[in-house]
Amino acid sequence: MCGIVGYIGKEQAAPILLDGLKKLEYRGYDSAGIALLNAGDIDIVKAKGRLKVLYEMTDGGKAVKGTCGIGHTRWATHGEPSENNAHPHCNDEKTIAAVHNGIIENYAELKEKLIKRGYKFYSQTDTEVATKLVDYYYKKYGDPLRAISEFALRVRGSYALAVIYKDFPETVFAIRKDSPMIIGVAGGAAYLASDVPAILKYTKSVYYVDNLQIARLERGGVTFFNLDREEVEKEIVKITWDAEAAEKGGFEHFMLKEIHEQPKVVKDTVNYIYQNGNLGFSEVGLSDKDFKKINGLIIVGCGSAYHVGLVMQYVTEDLARVPVRVELASEFRYRNPVVNGELVIAISQSGETADTLAAVRAAKEAGLKTLAIVNVVGSSIAREADYVFYTKAGPEISVATTKAYSAQLVAGYTFALKLAKIRKTIEDNEYSKLLKELSALPEKLELLLSQKEQIQKFAAKTMDKKDVFFIGRGVDYAVSVEGSLKLKEISYIHSEAYAAGELKHGTISLIENGTLVFGVLTQKKLAEKTLSNLVETASRGALIAAVASEGITLPEKGLDFVLRIPETDERFAASLAVIPLQFFAYYLSVLRGNDVDKPRNLAKSVTVE
Ligand code: G6P
Repeated sequence: MCGIVGYIGKEQAAPILLDGLKKLEYRGYDSAGIALLNAGDIDIVKAKGRLKVLYEMTDGGKAVKGTCGIGHTRWATHGEPSENNAHPHCNDEKTIAAVHNGIIENYAELKEKLIKRGYKFYSQTDTEVATKLVDYYYKKYGDPLRAISEFALRVRGSYALAVIYKDFPETVFAIRKDSPMIIGVAGGAAYLASDVPAILKYTKSVYYVDNLQIARLERGGVTFFNLDREEVEKEIVKITWDAEAAEKGGFEHFMLKEIHEQPKVVKDTVNYIYQNGNLGFSEVGLSDKDFKKINGLIIVGCGSAYHVGLVMQYVTEDLARVPVRVELASEFRYRNPVVNGELVIAISQSGETADTLAAVRAAKEAGLKTLAIVNVVGSSIAREADYVFYTKAGPEISVATTKAYSAQLVAGYTFALKLAKIRKTIEDNEYSKLLKELSALPEKLELLLSQKEQIQKFAAKTMDKKDVFFIGRGVDYAVSVEGSLKLKEISYIHSEAYAAGELKHGTISLIENGTLVFGVLTQKKLAEKTLSNLVETASRGALIAAVASEGITLPEKGLDFVLRIPETDERFAASLAVIPLQFFAYYLSVLRGNDVDKPRNLAKSVTVE
C-alpha cells in the first residue's frame, strides 16, 4: 500500500528510483512520481496510472538528471488517483519535496492552521499537508532535522516520510511511524525503500528504521537520530534472500511461481522448528515452561492470515485441548475483549498490517503475551511481539498470498503439536506419527502441483460464472473460506464460503441453474454430510465440484468435477486442499485477462486502516 524509495550516491538516481518502484508495484498503486535534486533545483515528474507511463515520460529515467532523489507509488486514500494528487508533493517555492506512505489522521486540522499562516493547497492529499508542515518548521528553525522532528510531534497517524531539501542537495531525510521503511547501504550510496525487494539488487546490508527514528542518508552513509536530534546507533542486518527470490524466474506470474514454491517453503518452515526429532521453539523465544503456562489462545490476523487462524483453531483445540478464539484483528483492536491470561498469536505475512499491529498493542496493553507468526524479518509486528516465529516463505510478491499462507499453516501445526506434547494431550506414538505426516507434506504438495492442468481445464469451462460457492465442515470450512477469498480477489467473480450446515439457512436460495458450488471433503466423519449438501444444490441446478481426499467415497455419477488430494492426517488436510483452490483462482484470473499479481483496488500490505 504505497511504496517509497530514495537514493543518494554517485549514479544517476532516476533509473534506480524507477527500478525500486517497479519492485514495489506489488504493494498496489494507482499513480507514481519521482523528485530529484538537480543543479540546485528540485525536478518533479508524476503520472497517473501504471509506472510504464512514468518510464515513458522520463525515457526510463534518463531524462531527469541528479544523483539524489525520492520516488513513490501511490494507493489513493485522500483524494482520487490523479497526477495532481500523486507524490512527491512540494512547497510553493519548490525548495522541499516529500513522499509519504501512511495516513496523517489530523491532517484537516493541520491544514486549517497552515491556511491561517498563508499556505495554499493544490491537492486533496494529507501528504501535501505533511510537506507544508515540514516546510513551515524548516522556515521557522532553519534546521532540516528539527523540521522533521517537529512534524513528528504535531501529526497523528502513520507515516514513512522521505524529504529532500534544495538547501541540502546531497541528502535524503526520512522518518517513520507505524509504516514500514528500510535503509540499505553499499559502496558510498544509500538507498531507502518500503521493502527489501526494492533494493536487493544493490545491497543486502539493511537497517530497519524504528518508530520515530529520523535517518539522514548521505554518500558517506546513514546517520540515525531520535526526536531530540541525538545520534542513535543502529545495527546493520544482513538479508539472506537472493535478488532472484524476488524475480519471476521463468514463470508467467509471481503467483504461479509462488504456488510452485510451496513444497519448499513448507519444508523450510517445518525444519526451522523440527530438528533432531524434536520440535524446538528456542529461536521463537518460547521455552517449555512458557508452553506450560498457556491456558488459552487468541489468534488475530487479517485476510488469509485470519483464515490460517481458523484452521489453527480446529487443529489446536483438537490436539492440545486449550480454548482457542480467532478474531479479525480489525475487530479485536476496538472490542474491549474480556481476556484471561491467554497467549495472543498475531499472524501476518508482512508484519506490517496496521490492524494486526494494533491488535498486538491492544493485547500487550491488556497484559497478555504475544507471539507473532510473521514472514518479514524485522517487521513492526515481529519487533513488537514478545515471541516471533519466522515463517520461511521468502519474499512473496503476488498480492494474493499462497506460499505465505501455507508456511503460516505449518507454523500453526508445529505450535499445536508442541503444545499438545507439553500438555500431554496426545500419546507419544501419535505425536511421532504426526511429525512424520508433517515431514511428508512437501512431497504430497509436489504431487498436487502436477495436477494443475486438470484444474486449468475445469477453470476454462467455468470462466463465465457469476457466483461460486465453497462449502465444507470443520477444517474443510476453514479452507473453503480461503479458496473463496482467492477466487474473488483475483478473478473478480462473486464468491462466498459457507459452513456446509449453514447452507439451508440462507445460501441455498441463491442457487440457480449453473451456479458453481465447490465442496471440500477431507474430513471422513463430516464428508458424507457435506456431500449431501452439495447434491442438494445440484438438485436445484448447481454445477458441483469436489476437492476430496483419496479415502473419501464419492458417488460415481453426479459430480461435474473431482480433484483428489493425497491422504494425510485430517488435521493437516488444509495444506493440501488449498492447492487446487489456489490454482482454480489463478487460472480463472488468467482466462479472464486480469492482472493476476496486482488485482484491482487491492494492496499487498495494508498499512492503513
Ligand atoms: C492483504 C493481502 C492478503 C493478506 C492480508 C493480511 O489483504 O492481500 O493476502 O492475507 O493483507 O496481510 P498480512 O501481511 O498481515 O498477512
